[in-house]
Amino acid sequence: MRIAVPTETLAYETRVAATPETVKKFVAAGCEVVVQKGAGEHANLTDAVFADAGASLADSFADTCKDANLVVKVRAPSKEELAQLSSGTVVASLFAPFSNPLLNDYAKAGLSCFCLEMIPRISRAQSMDVLSSQANIAGYKAIFLALEHYKSFMPMLMTAAGTVQPAKVLVMGAGVAGLQAIATARRLGAMVEVFDVRVAAKEQVESLGAKFIEVPADDADGEDAGGYAKEMSDEYKEKQAVLIAEHAAKSDIIITTALIPGRPAPVLVTEETLAKMKAGSVIVDMAAEAGGNCPLTEKDAVWVKDGVTLIGTSNIPALMATDASQLFARNVFNFISPMLDSESEGEPVALHINMDDEVIAASLICKDGEFLKPQLLGEKE
Ligand code: NAI
Repeated sequence: MRIAVPTETLAYETRVAATPETVKKFVAAGCEVVVQKGAGEHANLTDAVFADAGASLADSFADTCKDANLVVKVRAPSKEELAQLSSGTVVASLFAPFSNPLLNDYAKAGLSCFCLEMIPRISRAQSMDVLSSQANIAGYKAIFLALEHYKSFMPMLMTAAGTVQPAKVLVMGAGVAGLQAIATARRLGAMVEVFDVRVAAKEQVESLGAKFIEVPADDADGEDAGGYAKEMSDEYKEKQAVLIAEHAAKSDIIITTALIPGRPAPVLVTEETLAKMKAGSVIVDMAAEAGGNCPLTEKDAVWVKDGVTLIGTSNIPALMATDASQLFARNVFNFISPMLDSESEGEPVALHINMDDEVIAASLICKDGEFLKPQLLGEKE
């Protein structure tokens, strides 16, 4: 069983899908691991530490993936990479399933692909959940991105020259990213207010010392059966917009993380709301990849509109490549290792894909040439 770990090639991607820790574990489980030279460079992982952990090193993507049974990656293979993978190879990576134009090409090339974003958020799969581990990092880092542009203190300070008021932070969406942004802002002494359509989020928000702003509408709970947000009624959206405009005008920093999976991000900070914000305030729009919670956000750009800085960094975890890679790699190992098995005592290990396992069934998007999730192809085909 050979596992390949190529260097990521997508712009702004600094993470790596395996670390010396997980290489050691794969080797101990009976696998051979090949790492592309330089794969861990941005995460402070040298080729030497991978070699010490038991990996062999290869020069190119093609050499790394040659004869590999499994390729582990952070980002889905590009068109050029896809052309270098042999039919029958299994790939485990993020696949951006709602926007990737190559989805069906992976199937046509005879690959079997595990889309890590589709691992269900159930208790057993928590240790495999890359979306949560990376959103946690992004929520933390979002506060520091804001602070690079915010020119005042976060905590209240009593100085000989007078008192400095604490910063007011407004967080929209209290999922994994939002909760970590709230916790980080609170640790730095800011006053934090929070919007979320799910009433269940209120208790978590309050336990972090932040204030949950309730929207007084008939459909006041926006949680679906899977625990995710659902599309809200027009009445709710109108009432929420009024409240957001009111609270945004008083905020110094806004972190927006609101998303409904597979849909464009809801517009929460309108142009009118932005126009009412104070000069010097900062918005980090974490939904930039899905169109942004503010229509003025530009993906992967920072710009200033009427004194308000708008940050649209789409790959925030990549700014913390060391920890992001450590957690991503552990998630990958926790996902793959239960599938490693040998036919009988003394036989080499192989990857056993059991479609009766709900984690596997949910995340496997194509297998041996067949695309298994036609709903994802939609208009792409
Ligand atoms: P999540 O699904 O755990 O949380 C999203 C939260 O937003 C949920 O609590 C949901 O109820 C809430 N929400 C949805 N619509 C809302 C609305 N109209 N008003 C108020 N709240 C609303 O997602 P997670 O993991 O926290 O990620 C959040 C966002 O951050 C996603 O858009 C994700 O793509 C993005 N993200 C961005 C990164 C970056 O580098 N820019 C990195 C990681 C995540």
